[in-house]
Formats: sequence, C-alpha cells, structure tokens
Amino acid sequence: MSPFAHEWASLLAVVTARISEAGMLLDANAGFLRLIEVPMPVPATCPVAGFFIQPDFSALLKMKVEAGAESVLVYAGLLTFGDYGGKTRTLKAHVWREEGVLHLLAEFDVAELEYLTDTVLDLNRSYAQAQTELSQTNFKLKQSTRQLEQSNAHLKAANIRLAQAQSQLLQAERLASIGLLSAGVAHEINNPIGFVNANLGTLKTYVGHFLELIAAYEAAEHFVGNTPIKWNSITVLKNRMDWPYMKDDVLPLLDESQEGLDRVKRIVRALNDFARTDAADVWQPEDIHQGIESTLSVFWSQIKHRCELRKEYGELPAVTCVLSKLNQVFLNLLQNAAQSIEGQGVITIRTGCQSDEVWVEVADNGQGIVPTDLPHIFDPFFTTKPVGKGAGLGLAVSYGIVQQHHGRIEVKSEPGRGATFRVWLPVSPPTARS
Ligand SMILES: Nc1ncnc2c1ncn2[C@@H]1O[C@H](COP(=O)(O)OP(=O)(O)OP(=O)(O)O)[C@@H](O)[C@H]1O
Ligand SMILES: [Mg+2]
Repeated sequence: MSPFAHEWASLLAVVTARISEAGMLLDANAGFLRLIEVPMPVPATCPVAGFFIQPDFSALLKMKVEAGAESVLVYAGLLTFGDYGGKTRTLKAHVWREEGVLHLLAEFDVAELEYLTDTVLDLNRSYAQAQTELSQTNFKLKQSTRQLEQSNAHLKAANIRLAQAQSQLLQAERLASIGLLSAGVAHEINNPIGFVNANLGTLKTYVGHFLELIAAYEAAEHFVGNTPIKWNSITVLKNRMDWPYMKDDVLPLLDESQEGLDRVKRIVRALNDFARTDAADVWQPEDIHQGIESTLSVFWSQIKHRCELRKEYGELPAVTCVLSKLNQVFLNLLQNAAQSIEGQGVITIRTGCQSDEVWVEVADNGQGIVPTDLPHIFDPFFTTKPVGKGAGLGLAVSYGIVQQHHGRIEVKSEPGRGATFRVWLPVSPPTARS
C-alpha cells in the first residue's frame, strides 16, 4: 500500500479508481465518488462503466494486454464523465490496464477551478457590495422619504397657520378700522350725552320746583272764590292739557329719559373698551383662576338651575394683566354660552398653559354659530338675539380687551353642536399699556 494511500483516498481534486473489466468499481477515492455523486465509503457493488462518456468504457478495453504483463497505459487525455444527475465533467486522465483491472488517475483542472472559484468569489463580493450599497441607498431613500414627509407635514401646518394668521390679520384690520370709527362716534356722542344728562338733572329739579309752586297755587284756589278774574280761562287750560295726568307723568318721564341716557352711556363705555381708549389701568401679575372664580360667583347663580358647570383647570402661572377687564371677557363668554343653551345644557371652563402663553376656554353645547355669522361675531352691534336681549357688544368689547393684552380669541363652532371660545394671553405682555 502506498504511504499516501490515505491522503489519496480523501483528495477531492484528484480522482483515482480501480475498475474491473466488467465495469464494477473495486476501489476509489473521494474525488471519484464526488465525480459520480456517490457518497463515501466506496459501495460494495457499484457499476460505473456507464459513467464513461468520452471515450466510453469499451474503448478503454480495446487494447490487448498480455497475461502477467506490466500495466499498460491505455489512455491519456481528456475524459468526460457523466453522473446520476445527468451532468458531465471533463478531466485530464490517465488510464492503465493490467490483468482484468483498469486503473484510473485523473484531476480536475486546479487552475481552472481556482479561477472559477475566484470569479465566483469576486462575483459574490461585488454582489454583496452591490447589496450593501443597495440597502444603504434604500436606507437613505427611506430617510429622505421620512424627511420629505416630515417637511411636508411642517409645510402643511405652516400653511394652515399662515391662512389662520392671514384671516386673523384681516379680521384685526377690519376691527381696527371699526374701532377707530367707534372711538370717533363714542367721543362725539359723549359730549352731548354729558350736557343732556346734566341738563336733565337740572330740569328734574326745576320741574320739581314748578310742581311745588303749582300745588301752592292750587291750594290757594278756593280763597280766590268766584272772582271773575280769568278764572274760567285757567280751568279751561287745565282741562285741555289734562293737568292731573300731566302732573303725575312728568317726573316718571324724566326718570325714564335718564334711564335711556344711562343705557347710551353704557354703550359708549363699551365702544370705548372696544376701541381701547380708556385711561390708565393697573397692570400686575394676577391669578387667572381667581378671576374666573370671582366672575362665576356673581354670574353663576342666575343660570345654575339650567346649566351644569364643568371645570377642567390646568396649572397656570401668574399673568400680568388688568384682571377686572379680563373678568369682563370671561363674563361675556359665559353669558353668551348660557344664552346659546335652550333648556338644559353644559358649560365647560378649561384652562391651560403652553410655552409663554396661557389659555382660557369657555365651551357650551348650545345652538352653535352658523358659518356665515362666524366672520361677524366680533363686529360691534352684530347680534342674532331678539331686540332687548343682546346689543351685539359683548364679543366686540372682549376682543378689544384681549387685543389690549396682546392676546387673541379663537372660536370653533358648528350649528347645533355648541361653541368653544379660547382666549390666549401672553404671561408677560410686551407692553402693559392701557
Ligand atoms: N356661545 C355662543 N353660541 C352661539 N352663538 C354665539 C355664542 N357667542 C356668541 N354668539 C353669537 O355672536 C353674536 C355676538 O355676540 P356678542 O356677545 O357680541 O353679542 P350679544 O350676545 O348678541 O349681545 P351682548 O353681548 O351685547 O348682550 C351673538 O348674537 C350670537 O349670535
Ligand atoms: Mg353677548
């Protein structure tokens, strides 16, 4: 046995085999078994003649060999084998023949194999690289898609904010010009109201005196007796003017006029609030919740029998403001909410804080506001309420006060689904001016 017998047996690139002339495999190494795709170890009986394709097995037996002669090289060259799977392989082979046995020694073309392996490895490497690049590109693509989506969302939000700001600006401009007009009108009305009011006061005193005087004359009537001096004409005059009625009516008339004037004065004050022409206010850090609570204490008893109140207060810092004016805003919003509710309903007051602003929300589940009314609700004198119930000044005044605080009012409403008014206020307004 050759000293390399064991190594030969395990070699894969080298093919050795002993095959009987009948074509049965007598012995073979791993390389041969791999060639014909038969697993180790060598099977006991295994016909292999059929695997020799070019030259075929019978061609190798053609040369005559003397009995007892040395082994003879019967073939040297390329030998093509088939396997059970129908694949063929061509190897460089030598075949010797000696008494009844063929010895086969062949080799896979190592250089070719290495080249193929290298090529496959190269291909594999570039495939792996391409795959890495592809996944990197994919990753980048995903990232940029995500970024694109994010900037898209930002853009959309910015667009919405822009549209809101634009409509607020338009609204603010419109209301500012109405404010100027209101201020002018209020100023013009203020003067005549002032002197009519003063005159009315004086007139009331005078009329009081007149009445007293006439009563004195009347008391003296019976002393005059039937003296013919123009007495008849006085009686005729008294009857014509319905003196008893007039005497009773003159003071109530004056009172009523004074009441009317008071109402005009209130409206002028509201217009002034809206136009922000009021004199110095005291600005100081205040507790907004305390303001809401004090407003509720005067207002809530009027409507508690038909409205449920819910409070969802957040944490609020002290806000620099004129609290008495903000209380007027809260009162107007609460009044509107209560008036929008027919029968029973719910009013919810929410508060919260976001960066350097606080917000107060008054929400109701009342009748809501129709979209065509929404652009007008802050206009002075815009009202949908019956005569005597609303002057259309509550929101206009609130708007003016909130503007003065450098804040804003947002409204959300759908007919039949209530309304939500949210007042935003900076914690420290830039200039606490009146
Ligand atoms: N919470 C609300 N629900 C439904 N509509 C509302 C609400 N708040 C305001 N409105 C609408 O806005 C209009 C204007 O409100 P605003 O407070 O300025 O005036 P008003 O309530 O009619 O009268 P005033 O407040 O002067 O008594 C109201 O007439 C109403 O149509
Ligand atoms: Mg109102």
